[in-house]
Amino acid sequence: MPNDKRGVSASIPATVTAHTATPEQKQARVYEVFQSISTDYDRMNDVISLGRHRAWKRALVRAIAAVRPEAVLDLASGTGDIALAIAQAVPAARVTASDFSENMLAVARQRFDEAGVENVTIACENALSLSFLDDSFDVACVSFGLRNMPDYGQVIAEMTRVLRPGGRFFCLDSSYPTHPLIKPFFRLYFKYLMPLMGTLVAHAPEEYKWLNDSTEAFLSKDALADLMRKQGLTDVTYRSFLFGGAALHSGTKPPATVPAASATPATPPVIPAKAGIQNAPTPTVPEPPYQDTE
Ligand SMILES: C[S@@+](CC[C@H](N)C(=O)[O-])C[C@H]1O[C@@H](n2cnc3c(N)ncnc32)[C@H](O)[C@@H]1O
Repeated sequence: MPNDKRGVSASIPATVTAHTATPEQKQARVYEVFQSISTDYDRMNDVISLGRHRAWKRALVRAIAAVRPEAVLDLASGTGDIALAIAQAVPAARVTASDFSENMLAVARQRFDEAGVENVTIACENALSLSFLDDSFDVACVSFGLRNMPDYGQVIAEMTRVLRPGGRFFCLDSSYPTHPLIKPFFRLYFKYLMPLMGTLVAHAPEEYKWLNDSTEAFLSKDALADLMRKQGLTDVTYRSFLFGGAALHSGTKPPATVPAASATPATPPVIPAKAGIQNAPTPTVPEPPYQDTE
C-alpha cells in the first residue's frame, strides 16, 4: 500500500538482509524497524555508541550554528534530538524535522513540546522525494539516516535541490574504520555486541542486526565524499570520529551561475572615461557568505 508521503509499500520476508534487499524492500524494512524501535531508540543510541553519539552530534550542531542559518532541514530527523539542539542553538532559525516514520516523529513531537520550542516544524516525508521547494533551506543535514536509504545519490540530490545556492550540506553517519588493527574490533562490536544489546535493552535483536548490516553495506568515507561531488556539491570535506567509526561530511551547493547572456553582454556599454565613470563591471557570482568552520 504505497503512501503518498512515506512512499513505502508492503512488508518484506525476514530472510532479506541489507546486502540482499531490493531498494523497495530496504525502504520497507527500514520503515518497519524504526516504527518498532521508536520508543527505545534514544536509550539504545546511548548504549550502542557508549554515549559518543552525543559528542558527534554536538560537533554537527556547532558546525550548523556557525553558518547562522535562517532555515534548516534536518532530514531523517527521527526522534528529533538534532532538530531540537539546532532550534535551541539558533533561536532565529526555522527548523524542519522531517522523517517518514510517524512513530519516530511522535517521539520528536513530545520532545519539542516538552522543550517548549516554537521554531521547529515536523514534516512526514520520504527523503527520496521531498515536497519542499527548490532553494528553500540554508542548511540541510542528515544524521545516521543516509545509510538507511535505498539510493544515497538520490537523497543527496534531493537535499542539494532544496538547498539555496551557497547553502551547506552536512551528513553525520557511522562508518567502518579502515585501520587493520581497529577494524576487527568494530566488526565484532557491530556484528555481535550490538544485536545482543538490542536484545537486552530493546528486545529487538533482528532490528539491531539490520542496523549493523546497513553500516557494513554503507559507503566508505571517500566514496561518500565522491558521491557528494558527483551530485554537484563543492568544498567537500569530512572529519572522522572514534578511529573512523563515524564521520561528519560537509559540502556546499555552488552559488547560482549567471546566465551567459547577462554575464558577458554582446556589446558592453562603453562610457567615456572623461566623464569619470568606469565601464559597468561584468557581473560576478557572489561568494558563499560563510566559511566551513569544521
Ligand atoms: C538511525 S535514525 C536517525 C535519527 C536521528 N537523525 C539521529 O541522528 O539519531 C534513521 C532515521 O531515518 C529515517 N529514514 C530512513 N529512511 C528514510 C526515508 N527514505 N525517508 C525518510 N526518513 C527515513 C528513519 O525513519 C529513522 O528515523
